[in-house]
Amino acid sequence: MPLDDLPLFAQNAAVPPEKARMDALVAELEHHNRCYHTLDAPEISDDAYDALFRELLALEAAHPEWRSPCSPTLRAGDGLLGELAKKAHRQRMYGLDNVFSAEEWRDFVERMRRALPEAPTAFWCDPKLDGLALEIIYEQGLLTEALTRGDGENGEVVTAAVRTIRNVPLRLSLPPGEAALPERLEVRGEVVIYKADFAALNEKRTAFGQKPFANPRNAAAGSLRQFDTAATRAVPLRFLAYSTGEIHWGAARPCTQQGELMERLAAYGFLTPPNGRLCPDPAAVEAYVEEVRQQRENFAMEIDGAVAKQDNLEAQAALGHTARAPRFAVAFKFPAMQARTILRGIDIQVGRTGVLTPVAILDPVPVGGVMVSRATLHNEDEIRAKNLRIGDTVLVQRAGDVIPEVVGPILEARPVDAAEYVFPHTCPVCGQAAHREEGEAAWRCDNLACPAIRLRAISHFVSKAGLDVGGIGGKWIEQLVASGRVQSPADLFTLAVPELLQYERMGETLAQKFVDALAQARQTASLSRLISALGIRHVGEQTARQLARHYADLDALAAASTEDLMQLEDIGPEVASSIRAFFANAANAALLERFRGLGLWPVAGAGQGEKQAKGALAGKTILFTGTLSIKRDEAARLAEACGATVLGGVSGKLDYLVAGEKAGSKLAKAEKLGIRVLNEKEFRELLGEA
Ligand code: IVH
Repeated sequence: MPLDDLPLFAQNAAVPPEKARMDALVAELEHHNRCYHTLDAPEISDDAYDALFRELLALEAAHPEWRSPCSPTLRAGDGLLGELAKKAHRQRMYGLDNVFSAEEWRDFVERMRRALPEAPTAFWCDPKLDGLALEIIYEQGLLTEALTRGDGENGEVVTAAVRTIRNVPLRLSLPPGEAALPERLEVRGEVVIYKADFAALNEKRTAFGQKPFANPRNAAAGSLRQFDTAATRAVPLRFLAYSTGEIHWGAARPCTQQGELMERLAAYGFLTPPNGRLCPDPAAVEAYVEEVRQQRENFAMEIDGAVAKQDNLEAQAALGHTARAPRFAVAFKFPAMQARTILRGIDIQVGRTGVLTPVAILDPVPVGGVMVSRATLHNEDEIRAKNLRIGDTVLVQRAGDVIPEVVGPILEARPVDAAEYVFPHTCPVCGQAAHREEGEAAWRCDNLACPAIRLRAISHFVSKAGLDVGGIGGKWIEQLVASGRVQSPADLFTLAVPELLQYERMGETLAQKFVDALAQARQTASLSRLISALGIRHVGEQTARQLARHYADLDALAAASTEDLMQLEDIGPEVASSIRAFFANAANAALLERFRGLGLWPVAGAGQGEKQAKGALAGKTILFTGTLSIKRDEAARLAEACGATVLGGVSGKLDYLVAGEKAGSKLAKAEKLGIRVLNEKEFRELLGEA
């Protein structure tokens, strides 16, 4: 990148070469950080980035006195903060008044016109982000302080935590064509977590036995106010800038419009809210708001409305504020993603592995525009921890594409006759005794013949996580199981077109497709897919792939001892004994014999459909690490479909490591071994070549 774009560290003959190199590295790394995290358009490989990063680390270790206050190495942030200090905002951080209808919006515009008849009619609009408001202060282009909104007058100092947010520029970029940066710039915006990141974060937290966050906003707020910056760093926070506080432009060219300001903030290096737009008049604002409302679920982050701001900054200043909120801006609020309703009862659902999951039966209520009448309650302990009684008024929420859940009861509204729920100790479907093992939260039905377990097991067998038999919907499986015709996955392969025609709404074409899809799956299923399809407890797709690499077929796997199994990476005693228990079960052994008889007997690495694939990934080994924009299992499926084999760990046998955000030790190991590391974009390019 051209160094003369960077005004802060002028290249000067008096500067020692090492210091000059350090400054150049800081500039270059910040540039690539921005390309990667803000623009989503990396210019160099992760390897190349890390090489520069390590070079800077080494130079800083040798010359700590030259370390720049905006060095990207400071983002590592492993230090502990003291208690959060409070500090006054130079300009108060106001809230926004809300409008809920077109009428209220027109009233707002009318009030504005009365207050300032010459005010222009154009409005800058952007989505209202549901996160945590934050102010970041830059002096001479350098990040010097960050404050939460607090009560609007005083915020908490969260500078160290904010430095760890990867898309926050530690130093402002000088926009092309601009001569200088502002002397002081207070940037305001929202700290959010993207919905996909949130889901992955909670998955990880639950896997480590930590309590999941209730919603992305809580996660963002909680982690930003952490005393431990390493904990903040562990959460994928992002900052989106949408306004400013005090600005001393100095020699910099002042902005005159909100839209221009947004463009300038982007040029300084900030991520700004998606879909921001200039609306020439109040009617265009209404259309904009409708559009955002329709698109609400498609935004990467949670939004709870749209904001319209007078575009002219001079008019903004002239309009000023009421005691609570600006007169020049207003929020269109969308329905909350939380709502109150009555808990009428609790249903028990029996899952594929026999787990009894309590489900709240609710009076139907719209939550963020979607009717909700059922919500998960997770397990017996959760019901107790949440102190729920039947008849309670409860708060339900939908968050980050997650299934609706009950947040808790509104205790003030509890009726006197609200009844405590007694968790059943028998399976509600087959009536047999259920068990709860010590140290486990779940009650389980162990009856292999339980119709509920059968149905789920068969659905899993044909699902994407199983043999991935296309075109067989859940409703058909339900009918086939309910009629008794299909009692095990093996029965599916004996279905013929004429008998299928007896089922309601089944036509000739569909029936033929059905039979063909199963025949195709039977002939081409890979060993790993079949192992995964069996639905062995604790054996997901990743473990199934690993097993398929080490055992030639199901016979070999069935013969493996717990000790043998535990030799494999990632397989501990629990997984190993679960595999043993599966194969030791007579009913399962009988099922495998039927598979053998049907010719559904894949052998590792031989004659499988995926091996016929051509393209850049065919025959290659690959592994995924870090956060990708899709689930890792999904990425693995895509790679397998192109003929790649997904490995379980980094070793010399690995061809490609695809590293997403926050890649950790696997990435380091791959680099040490000189393995080709791809980012998600490069991986997608390879997929495209297949
Ligand atoms: S503009 C002068 N734009 O919503 C207006 N605020 O409920 C200053 N918020 O405190 C704010 N998304 O923290 C603006 N696109 C957006 C916003 C936004 C979320 C927050 C902001 C404010 C709160 C009011």
